[in-house]
Amino acid sequence: MCMGRVLLGVTGGIAAYKACELTRLLVRAGHEVTPILTPEAERFVAAQTFEALARREMPRELFPHLVEADLLVIAPLSANTLAKLAQGLADNVLTQTALAFDGPVLAAPAMNPRMWAHAATRANVELLRSHGVELVGPEEGDTAEGEVGMGRMSEPEEILERCRSLVEKRDQLRGRRVLITAGGTREPLDAVRFLGNRSSGRMGAALAAEARRRGAEVTLVAANLSVPAPVGVDVVPAPTAEELARETLARGDADVVLMAAAVADYRPADPQAGKSPKDGDSWTVTLEPTTDVLRELGVRRTNGQLLVGFAADVGERGLERAREKLEAKQVDLIVFNDIARDDIGFDAAENEVVLVSADGERQLGKAAKERIAAAILDAVAERLGAA
Ligand code: CTP
Repeated sequence: MCMGRVLLGVTGGIAAYKACELTRLLVRAGHEVTPILTPEAERFVAAQTFEALARREMPRELFPHLVEADLLVIAPLSANTLAKLAQGLADNVLTQTALAFDGPVLAAPAMNPRMWAHAATRANVELLRSHGVELVGPEEGDTAEGEVGMGRMSEPEEILERCRSLVEKRDQLRGRRVLITAGGTREPLDAVRFLGNRSSGRMGAALAAEARRRGAEVTLVAANLSVPAPVGVDVVPAPTAEELARETLARGDADVVLMAAAVADYRPADPQAGKSPKDGDSWTVTLEPTTDVLRELGVRRTNGQLLVGFAADVGERGLERAREKLEAKQVDLIVFNDIARDDIGFDAAENEVVLVSADGERQLGKAAKERIAAAILDAVAERLGAA
């Protein structure tokens, strides 16, 4: 069991009572817990309750030693504090600590389902993710106001499990160079039009954030991301297949390469200069093949590099093709994603994938892309002997 110094932030909301149980579980698991309640949280549960459970006083100001902790977990995280964290406000000890702390942060949002669904909260959540904050929940269920919907805080056991994983894996990939490609390339037809695809870059961004949380030195080769890239990651823009091939192959000596980008297999052979006018005639475009970057990496690799490919395909036959690719492209692992379903995959927050390797297959249940990213990196670490 790997123990850590855990800062437990508690914000105002009825779920604050569940944070008492989380404190108890963290202490029982051997962690050193420092509770930090916001003034709003103290209206729901007395700080004394947490102090008794944690056997530690709650700091009333931002002491320098606080920021040396191994993990900051905020449970529950209210819509209000979520917005403050997204914007970097520091108006109480918890928000000050969060701003001064550069270690891993786990947050368990809990709020009314309509607040969770609001465009302002959605935007704040994307910002928090891009700051590298890992979110757990919220879950669907009954809320305090008697409504059913997305907004209930995850159970303390689930949060404990994520804390354990974050503390245990914080140095797992330290010293390793991890190269990740993400997003979808755009191949110019003329100066304003392009051929593109539906990839948002969400999966690749989640992988980059997770690799960073595990201490890796991360480079993200980014093709037209529609989500922000995580902080602490070196971002290299590569909007076309050609640029992506060049930037990726130039960094082909990384310890791990995760090819999550949707790279065009073909591009217009003869893109027009300027904007092609509309003249009522049909427009015939000849497409020429692009470099298969993954295949090229497989051919070139000389060190013990770990190579992970992604396959977006349909059904059992697609899975079969993913198995074939493993050998054809000489990669260690293929992450197979069934694109026949529209509740997962492209531009969705969730995914359900199968990890295909020479030693077998592992089906990962439907989960947030952060969880899928963590499972992929678990498999990577295992293969590197770092798990
Ligand atoms: N890939 C790549 N370079 C390309 C195209 C794809 O590196 N020009 C990578 C993707 O990043 C992904 C994997 O290859 O990791 C996908 O394999 P691919 O064979 O392209 O899959 P599909 O296009 O889905 O299948 P196929 O081409 O066999 O129809």
